[in-house]
Amino acid sequence: MEQLHQSICDAVREAGAIVRSADEDKGVKEKSGHQDLVTRYDGAVQRFLEERLLSLLPEAGFLGEEDAPNHAEREWVFIVDPIDGTTNFIKGIPIVGISVGLARNGQMEQGVVYNPYTDELFTARRGHGAFCNGRPISVSNHPLADGISFFGTSLYYPELGDRSFAIAKKLFESSLDVRRLGAASLDLCYVAAGRGECYFECVLSPWDYAAGSLILEEAGGIVTDMTGAPLRFDRKCSLAAANAASHRQLLEIIAACGYTQK
Ligand code: IPD
Repeated sequence: MEQLHQSICDAVREAGAIVRSADEDKGVKEKSGHQDLVTRYDGAVQRFLEERLLSLLPEAGFLGEEDAPNHAEREWVFIVDPIDGTTNFIKGIPIVGISVGLARNGQMEQGVVYNPYTDELFTARRGHGAFCNGRPISVSNHPLADGISFFGTSLYYPELGDRSFAIAKKLFESSLDVRRLGAASLDLCYVAAGRGECYFECVLSPWDYAAGSLILEEAGGIVTDMTGAPLRFDRKCSLAAANAASHRQLLEIIAACGYTQK
């Protein structure tokens, strides 16, 4: 497993070179709507990773953001977001994650998230801790009152805007400040590295959080859906992630804002 992990990290770093080499004209197109954008690089990185990862573990299935699932019912499945933070990528904001998770029977076993612009590689294997560029990372022990709260706007579900911003306002009042990074995989890694204390988002797809959720857990954090239930990796999910000192309070704030699962 250690050798496989190293090979996954190598593949993700190589994918980062494709992202960094992007032309000014990124071939931007709309997907489901005006805010849901894709570039030709999302597809190129996914094709590169699918070929490389399946050559490392041919019996695995593949679930990626940019194409139909390829045997995602198998025992082992790679769950991949080739460019998490596509809008940041388009705008030249250097907060972008290449996210590769490896699940076995619905449980995450490995996670790798790479920001090709900052050259930060966040990694975890179940039971072996979490790392950034090979150095161990862990969540902070700060209470929410002394914390930074990250959140996502579930931008492809505008009907959830009022709910998201009501929770974010309450977090703004209950912590030092709020941040909206624009890449869910990195929100999770930032909490894992103690750069912030919590993160929530009302709807995400498995490729947004598969790798990051394991990295956060291996760093000592807690991640559930917004009702406190375990995450699923075979369907969309809400996310409530925090250090151990803040998770309960995060769920209480979410519940007080009247959140019910979409
Ligand atoms: C998006 C980013 C964003 C989050 C969205 C995700 P994408 O991923 O993670 O921060 O708010 O919900 O879909 O579309 O850029 O891969």
